[in-house]
Amino acid sequence: MSRVRLHDLDFVPFIPEGEVAAAIDRVAARLNTDYTGWRPLLIGVLNGAFFFAAELMKRLTIECEVTFVKVASYHGTRSTGKVSELIGLSERIEGRHVVVLEDIVDTGSTIRYIMDALAEHHPASVRIAALLFKPDAYKQEIPIDFVALNIPNAFVVGSGLDHDGLGRNLPGILKIAEP
Ligand code: IMP
Repeated sequence: MSRVRLHDLDFVPFIPEGEVAAAIDRVAARLNTDYTGWRPLLIGVLNGAFFFAAELMKRLTIECEVTFVKVASYHGTRSTGKVSELIGLSERIEGRHVVVLEDIVDTGSTIRYIMDALAEHHPASVRIAALLFKPDAYKQEIPIDFVALNIPNAFVVGSGLDHDGLGRNLPGILKIAEP
């Protein structure tokens, strides 16, 4: 695949599909080892994590369940600033071993919000698995327990990640083209 235009931006191939698959293999192997006998609940964060969740699930050999949530962000009153809401958590997670599945962890503010929201429901444990992690952009203390691929601080699409709705279907990972 060569250069792809999405809306106003050009993207070029960055990580081939095979490398993404191999990285997901490694995360799955770790989950298969760490969670044997624990029946974890995987919680995918929509929209971007649909791809990672599906690819990971088909590699898991342990008993496990999957569900999805969405983080809605909107601007509240001037005093409250940006407000987030966790939508769609219908499962009881009290006492469960939870693994949050993220497409990408960038500054970490989304994962911070999700961890705080989940803690209110008293899970037995919560760990995080991310398809992509930008360590140079990360501003939180929370460890990202299972990272498929570390990437530099560039805007990327493909394998579930989008630019304004487009590019989620592209295989592998593409990064924004240098001007
Ligand atoms: P954070 O809260 O800064 O960690 O950002 C997390 C969210 O921002 C992700 O779930 C994505 O929706 C979006 N995001 C961050 N970096 C990228 C990127 O390079 N490509 C596409 N979406 C991104």
